[in-house]
Amino acid sequence: MSLVNLRVNGVTYPVDIEMGRNLSGVLRSEVGLTGTKEGCDDCECGACMVLLDGQPINSCSYLAAQAADREITTVEGLANGDEMHPLQRNILAAGGVQCGFCTPGMLMSADALLDRNPDPSDEEIKIGLSGNLCRCTGYARIIQAVRATAVELNVSP
Ligand code: FES
Ligand code: FES
Repeated sequence: MSLVNLRVNGVTYPVDIEMGRNLSGVLRSEVGLTGTKEGCDDCECGACMVLLDGQPINSCSYLAAQAADREITTVEGLANGDEMHPLQRNILAAGGVQCGFCTPGMLMSADALLDRNPDPSDEEIKIGLSGNLCRCTGYARIIQAVRATAVELNVSP
């Protein structure tokens, strides 16, 4: 076991873990943030997507120890207090959430996409979300929500 400092959503969590543990499991069990989901545990579905120094990663396939002392953002870090992030509000408004299992990972990929490309085309949104699988929605409403968020953020002062 080793003591590792994980910085998640701006808060430092010292965790005592085995060095081979995956980040998603540590976030859920030791840190107590269960918004990050574990689906395939094999880098296929994107349910475990978080941002590491602003870049989306599959946390099921990333060692927690390698994320020490870096900036981790999970879905719990998107909202501003009680105020939902525009992506969260728009995905609900568009009906882009059914079972919701893919939603946290989808939101993190979308957030990273809009950060590097504030005005993506539908094709660019599809590519940006290509690492996230959804078995429920058919994707159209999720893409619609990302587009609506881009418009909203681009017209905001
Ligand atoms: S749980 Fe990580 S990619 Fe599926
Ligand atoms: S809403 Fe069910 S997997 Fe996407």
